[in-house]
Amino acid sequence: MPLFTWKDDYSVGVGTFDGHHKRLFDLINELHDAMRTRKASEALGGILLALIDYTRMHFGAEEDRMASLVYPGYAEHKKEHEKFVKEITDFKAKLDAANFTISIGLMVFLKDWLVNHIMVTDKQYTRFFNDKGVV
Ligand code: FEO
Repeated sequence: MPLFTWKDDYSVGVGTFDGHHKRLFDLINELHDAMRTRKASEALGGILLALIDYTRMHFGAEEDRMASLVYPGYAEHKKEHEKFVKEITDFKAKLDAANFTISIGLMVFLKDWLVNHIMVTDKQYTRFFNDKGVV
């Protein structure tokens, strides 16, 4: 059973970003499956790297849209993104240094962070974007 299941409640009202969020859920589920089936740390590291790369792409896409439309919450939103990227990049560095394993605690952290960020911070831009024709 996946750790994470998409629900319509998670929609931020912008199709492209919902698609990105679904892919992030999938990557967290892949990481969870790899952890549960005790895949080698190289396999875990590969999935974690894919998650970092996709997260950066998604955050960049949101930030570009916010910047181009002069979204008032841009700076605070970007700060949240940067903090999360630093945390997952640090996890990857520890995994590479072989003094860290991916635990259920990390999985719960990733899942809770993403759900909280979508439900609270991302959803703040829905009306702003929709009013500008971004749907
Ligand atoms: Fe969808 Fe602000 O990340």
